[in-house]
Amino acid sequence: KTIDSLGDVRGKRVLVRSDFNVPLDGSTITDDGRIRAALPTLKVMVAGGAKVVVTAHLGRPKGSPDPKYSLAPVAERLGELLGTTVTLAEDTVGESARATVEALGDGEVALLENVRFDARETSKDDAERGTLADELAALADAYVSDGFGVVHRKQASVYDVAQRLPHAAGSLVLKEIESLRKATDDPDRPYVVVLGGSKVSDKLGVIANLIGKADRLLIGGGMVFTFLAAKGYGVGSSLLEEDQVETVRGYLAEAESKGVEIVLPTDIVVASEFKADAPAETVPADAIPADKMGLDIGPESARAFAAKIADAKTVVWNGPMGVFEFPAFAEGTKAIAQALSDTAGFTIVGGGDSAAAVRILGYDEATFSHISTGGGASLEFLEGKTLPGIDVLED
Ligand code: 3PG
Repeated sequence: KTIDSLGDVRGKRVLVRSDFNVPLDGSTITDDGRIRAALPTLKVMVAGGAKVVVTAHLGRPKGSPDPKYSLAPVAERLGELLGTTVTLAEDTVGESARATVEALGDGEVALLENVRFDARETSKDDAERGTLADELAALADAYVSDGFGVVHRKQASVYDVAQRLPHAAGSLVLKEIESLRKATDDPDRPYVVVLGGSKVSDKLGVIANLIGKADRLLIGGGMVFTFLAAKGYGVGSSLLEEDQVETVRGYLAEAESKGVEIVLPTDIVVASEFKADAPAETVPADAIPADKMGLDIGPESARAFAAKIADAKTVVWNGPMGVFEFPAFAEGTKAIAQALSDTAGFTIVGGGDSAAAVRILGYDEATFSHISTGGGASLEFLEGKTLPGIDVLED
């Protein structure tokens, strides 16, 4: 159901779940992409005269208030982007939240403090989550699910509250589903997937699912060293998930038998320490010195990856190729961003880190077909998993 199905929202209290889990440097938001992506739904609600109550999480606080994870910087930025005051309630469902919602006029916006300050939000116990969902539902007349980045979590503000109120999917959630389906349902070929980021264990499900679906898998980032180890190469002091080496070896064999190309880097940029100014050197991927760690794919690999992307009709990219935050180790990630911008195929950038990387490195967002706000959510969608926050809307 779209937000139109809620009918006239004037004067109604509408609870909108957004994903405002943005990267912060102290209290400075370093990438506001997720806040900007939430604007279309919120603007429709404001224009329709709803009393808009937004709920969101930030980081992983331990179920109690922690000033480090306050949504205060988000309330400020959201207000700037909406051109209106966004009142931040001091709590999520307590006295301050109730008073703040009570004081809302038509077309005004309030943000409830970090919903993960309440331990019930992430509880595994249905009844416990249910009591928080009841309290959230009491603050609203309708619910709009628009936090795509968190729809893979069975949490009170994502899942349980939708069962308690008339509900609809926001325009961000709908746009994400529509774009990601272009890759999962009969993608135009060649279908190329570029995977990076630090942890291979986070990506095992998606890799298993993609062998058999994608034509080429290009692997970089910290996770690549587990692949290189699976090939029998020494990886020095690079990131390595030893317990995954066997699984990865199995994937390499399976991909070969199914004719799926897994492309690994042939050169690696290494350094002695994980530091922005650590002297960098490029070495062959099968000759990483024992005392060095790989921090980016090398230039030869970047060119080879770009060539594999150039003729693709569908490209999904999830995870940076190196430590792009350090300029000396950003070239691999830049090369992938550039290759996606250059190709005429349908391109999806997924994963909080790669989406942030394209913006932080200064790429024009319009040159990508879709920049997903989902990290884990977009991966699980690509894996073909049922996402609780979407499932609950399809009653
Ligand atoms: C994300 O950043 O991927 C989402 O906001 C979900 O956050 P989580 O992984 O802490 O649940």
